[in-house]
Amino acid sequence: MKVNKVKEESLHRKEEVVSSANVNLTKQTEEVSRDERAALQGQSPRVVWLTGLSGSGKSTIANSLERKLHLRGMRTMLLDGDNIRLSLNRDLGFGEADRMENIRRIGEVAKLMADAGLIVITAFISPHREDRDRVRALILPGEYLEIFVDTPFAVCEERDPKGLYLKARQGLIPNFTGIDSPYEPPKNPELRLDTTVQSAGECADSIIALLQPKT
Ligand code: ADX
Repeated sequence: MKVNKVKEESLHRKEEVVSSANVNLTKQTEEVSRDERAALQGQSPRVVWLTGLSGSGKSTIANSLERKLHLRGMRTMLLDGDNIRLSLNRDLGFGEADRMENIRRIGEVAKLMADAGLIVITAFISPHREDRDRVRALILPGEYLEIFVDTPFAVCEERDPKGLYLKARQGLIPNFTGIDSPYEPPKNPELRLDTTVQSAGECADSIIALLQPKT
């Protein structure tokens, strides 16, 4: 309830700013269409959206997937949570409103890259269903693939590749996903991956199988 209220207020504030800033803008028609761009790339654009807890294996799978696609001559781009938060989104923290803004921006960037004809792979916790659904709505139907990296919390905490769960348990990282900040699992992801039984490479292969019919 509280989370939704914060989000609502923040959305409302942003809408006000956007609507006043947008008054004198007109959408311009682009001469080269997105279909023409994609045709030149020789592929169908996709946004492969990996969601899951910190330490679930999103980045490892994303990197394996990009390498495999790259080897097949596909044009790709990888957007990874930690890297984007060190650059484009370095002004954002881990409160509810900032996480929402993080995902909003990445959704827009992913859309632009798909418009450029690329296969975009994203690796963000993206804990809120509503935020992910907003991204899905931005992207053309069929182009957005939600991939749930469904590694159980206990396994992520046990792996703790960056030592963050330990720090969070010690109270050194507030709002840590799965500890004192929520994660809402996808209800109908295009694919659910179980990293406790599949290697990162196998996970990547099952994503590629999903891409194949249309690329
Ligand atoms: S998201 O929730 O806004 O989608 P994002 O994927 O960009 O998160 O960033 C998550 C990464 O930031 C984690 O993998 C972890 O390395 C780091 N991190 C730092 N603080 C937190 C926190 N409070 N909760 C989760 N991850 C955090």
